[in-house]
Amino acid sequence: MSSWSRPSELEWPRVWIRFRARDVDSDRMVEYRVQDLPEDRVRDAIDHMKEHFLRDEPMCGSVGLYKDPVALEEFDLMWQDIARQQVAVVCFREGSDEIVGLNMLTVVSKADSKELKFKSSALQTVCDSYIGLLKQAHIFEKYGIENYLSAWGLSVSPKYRGRGVGTELLRARIPMCRALGLTVTVTLFSNPGSQIPAAKVGFYDEIVVTYKQLEEQGYLFPGVPYELNKLMTMVVE
Ligand SMILES: CC(C)(COP(=O)(O)OP(=O)(O)OC[C@H]1O[C@@H](n2cnc3c(N)ncnc32)[C@H](O)[C@@H]1OP(=O)(O)O)[C@@H](O)C(=O)NCCC(=O)NCCS
Repeated sequence: MSSWSRPSELEWPRVWIRFRARDVDSDRMVEYRVQDLPEDRVRDAIDHMKEHFLRDEPMCGSVGLYKDPVALEEFDLMWQDIARQQVAVVCFREGSDEIVGLNMLTVVSKADSKELKFKSSALQTVCDSYIGLLKQAHIFEKYGIENYLSAWGLSVSPKYRGRGVGTELLRARIPMCRALGLTVTVTLFSNPGSQIPAAKVGFYDEIVVTYKQLEEQGYLFPGVPYELNKLMTMVVE
């Protein structure tokens, strides 16, 4: 459990951003919204992450987390913990309760810097490669902060990709950080499909490594077709 908790005076669940984008089955422009993930959709959200994110995100897909029962159970528990912090966000299309996309956001606190230990060695590899970059970046010291907003998974349902949903899920962090009193958000973006939207909304490169360098450090992600893995930061005034 984290030592950070959402300010009780802040309405929850709350809508952070509304935007217009192409509909799913026509070229009509329709309204979408990014809002806090409600309690009664946490199970659906985790199922979405297991079905889509763990397969399609290059690092998780490469080490086969979607077919590793131990990793599936451990990720499930981690996402349940994350959802309890009440900062995870979901995107819905107007008039529909279908999950369009998700960002499993979490607030990381200086006071909680304990090691994450998993039984699944594949999950441990993903986690250690991420945590290793975070340690290298010295985020708390560099920005003089006690807490920052991070994430364990950005995912858009395959049929909704390429219409700006990923970008808006990331943009929603701006009003959210302001409301929560957080000034920094940091995330590992593993491929151009998320690095491009992140740069568009104001994230900049904190640490850039190649998958080859990760391999030299013992973190093997076979078959990933991309060159760069980026820890990216956005400062929210
Ligand atoms: C990454 C993901 C969330 C992006 O969602 P999305 O709604 O399709 O994102 P957007 O439409 O806002 O933007 C995607 C941008 O990346 C670009 N892009 C996507 N894949 C790309 C690739 N392989 N190479 C170069 N650019 C790519 C798109 O062209 C688009 O840029 P543009 O608007 O300038 O054309 C979605 O593809 C996904 O769920 N992927 C699987 C899980 C994953 O990888 N998550 C991110 C982990 S950090």
